[in-house]
Amino acid sequence: MLKIAVLVSGGGTNLQAVIDAIDNGTITNAEITAVISNNKNAFALERARNSGINAISISPKDFENRDLFNDALIKTVGESGADLIILAGFLVVLPKKMTENYENRIINIHPSLIPSFCGKGFYGLKVHEEVLKRGVKVTGATCHFVDSGTDTGPIILQKAVDVYEGDTPEVLQRRVMEQAEWIILPKAVNLIANGKIHVEDGRVITVA
Ligand code: GAR
Repeated sequence: MLKIAVLVSGGGTNLQAVIDAIDNGTITNAEITAVISNNKNAFALERARNSGINAISISPKDFENRDLFNDALIKTVGESGADLIILAGFLVVLPKKMTENYENRIINIHPSLIPSFCGKGFYGLKVHEEVLKRGVKVTGATCHFVDSGTDTGPIILQKAVDVYEGDTPEVLQRRVMEQAEWIILPKAVNLIANGKIHVEDGRVITVA
């Protein structure tokens, strides 16, 4: 059984998609052992509690400096016993030590088709604002492994979503979540939980 820690900062709809997929059997061989947030008011923590999952908040504000926070985050994740870490709207840059310790065992969901609209500063609604500004006709979401860069790790799954005239960032964000994020994130978790993918030369290979 794959043990998962989900790291969150906000609403937690992607967390919910994973919880639901485990409950309804779309994801097999996996359980969430902890939901960890840097924001004690994150609704995602409430979602975890509602599902009987250990909900932990650990804020940088409670530590004298970033190194101490990073150490505490690494310790908390370690104590969860997680084999896989999911970044589901986690707005904290991970300590280098963590990306090294968990090579190809951390995944992230990003609301664009990487390598477009990603990297430093591209998160949440900002991504969709930039998509609309540029006028692209197709956007989407990407689930990828996390390495020491920002949105640079091996890509597991992507799904395209149409952009329509008159879209607002909020409307587009919702469509990308519904049509892409909430589908590909559980799918990727299920592939990992069942040993169906591995990384070769920086690329994800799917085993039939
Ligand atoms: C999601 O759209 C996720 O893709 C995005 O934050 C949102 C979190 O929503 N993540 C990033 O932008 C990471 N660069 P949620 O809390 O409802 O899952």
